[in-house]
Amino acid sequence: MTEHQKKANNQNPEIELRQRGEIFRLFNQIAHKYDITNRLLSLGQDAYWRRQLVRQIQIAKGQDFFLLDLATGTGEVMKTFREFYPDMGCLIGIDLSEGMIREGMEKFHDKEQRHLFAVMDVLYTGIQSEAINAVTMAFGIRNVSEVSQALKEIYRVLKPGGQILILEFGLPQKGLWRKIYLFYLRYLLPYIGGFWTGCPSAYRYLSETICKFPSHDHFSQLLQETGFTNTKWIEFNRGAVLLYTANKPNKSE
Ligand SMILES: C[S@@+](CC[C@H](N)C(=O)[O-])C[C@H]1O[C@@H](n2cnc3c(N)ncnc32)[C@H](O)[C@@H]1O
Repeated sequence: MTEHQKKANNQNPEIELRQRGEIFRLFNQIAHKYDITNRLLSLGQDAYWRRQLVRQIQIAKGQDFFLLDLATGTGEVMKTFREFYPDMGCLIGIDLSEGMIREGMEKFHDKEQRHLFAVMDVLYTGIQSEAINAVTMAFGIRNVSEVSQALKEIYRVLKPGGQILILEFGLPQKGLWRKIYLFYLRYLLPYIGGFWTGCPSAYRYLSETICKFPSHDHFSQLLQETGFTNTKWIEFNRGAVLLYTANKPNKSE
């Protein structure tokens, strides 16, 4: 695509990185400030949303429990899981950004190796089929170039009956709150986030991808088309954040 065509499309360079599957380059740049910026921009609510995600995880007691956290970033979901379940199972965090993973590894200092991190693509994890009890992904799916391929990969690695939990930003469906939220996304977020991190385009990218991500119904449909059943979603802040959950059917279903 020529420079002229890019301008004509009003293309954000981060959107291009995502299309090439290289959005991790952006996260490498902001990794050192990622957690604190999230706290600031969400007024501390990001920690609450992750706790709600962990509360929804179906724990099969008495079995080996393997949790795969995709696009784990700085490992915040894994850290939250450990607050609820200090001794349970093995946690595996995958991300394409080495910088983010490095921040995450600092949070776990166990010798038992119950926390594993790997620089890998969620589209091709290389994990054995039907090995994982629960797959979590917080604020990651929006960044992935091929959402359907990511869902297929999650389906493949889950055990029958296993659970997928996806936390993602959304748009309130209607009313004044939608208008206020769109104003925040378009006019405030890029400036506050940009000022704080020195990377305004990263926060323009955040706004753009939130606006372009499939609606609740559409995303649930994608889950069902992949083969998941028991599809549900929970809204936070009137739909500004959504938690999707579903299961891979048991073999008998
Ligand atoms: C907004 S961060 C979310 C981090 C973390 N899950 C959280 O709760 O804060 C998105 C992460 O997705 C990662 N990512 C984007 N595309 C990816 C891919 N194809 N495979 C693995 N990680 C990816 C980025 O590197 C980044 O760390």
